Amino acid sequence: MRKHIVAGNWKMNNSIQEGLELVKAIKANYAGDNQLIIGAPFLHLSMVNETLEGSSIAVAAQNCHHEESGAFTGEISTSMLASANIPYVIIGHSERREYNHETNAQLAAKVDLALKDKLIPIFCCGESLEIREKEQHFNWITAQLKESVFHLTAENFAKIVIAYEPIWAIGTGVTASVEQAQEIHAHIRKEIARQYDTAIADGISILYGGSCKPDNAQELFANADVDGGLIGGASLKADEFIAIANSF
Ligand code: 13P
Repeated sequence: MRKHIVAGNWKMNNSIQEGLELVKAIKANYAGDNQLIIGAPFLHLSMVNETLEGSSIAVAAQNCHHEESGAFTGEISTSMLASANIPYVIIGHSERREYNHETNAQLAAKVDLALKDKLIPIFCCGESLEIREKEQHFNWITAQLKESVFHLTAENFAKIVIAYEPIWAIGTGVTASVEQAQEIHAHIRKEIARQYDTAIADGISILYGGSCKPDNAQELFANADVDGGLIGGASLKADEFIAIANSF
């Protein structure tokens, strides 16, 4: 059975004190056995990791650099994350693709470095409204996968997590319909099976992200190919995040 994963992405929110309160509340109130992940800002990662000690909840960085080390002021490398015992890293979020102009080729380099340093990449893909309206979303997602993760060996590919995040549903309150989410998730799994094999495709957790809330998580997660969520706004409130985590 595939792992059910509910990952929060705090983005650029929460002071250290607010983050600490939030992590404590999540840790104290979650009793389920789905894999919970908290995607915190770099500054918060060690605090979150220490606070989560003794629980099965894990921490994720929201980004890493595509070079191993060197003169890249303000950046964080995968080996730094590994040295702080951070298990997961979100790679290719649409906000980084848009505001930081990250390319599919750079994302491929990040994925390689993350795996080399034994971090688990949560690789994000997803289309804009414009691409969807032109009905090019299937090809768009396929190209994102081909250019950033399909170069991996089967052994390495089997370690990653994929998140499908339609850009038009992020932070907008608009959610992909149950049918739209299932259709793209099934497409992603089919492409993985074509590139690797069905055993690998069947083992990969594919998360949905985009205005996932307590009141729609259950119907989204009920889809055969939706294995959890990458949650933005609703991950900033312990009760909402836990309600989503309990939606399987
Ligand atoms: P929202 O849940 O706020 O729409 O954000 C989704 C997202 O970008 C998670 O990475």
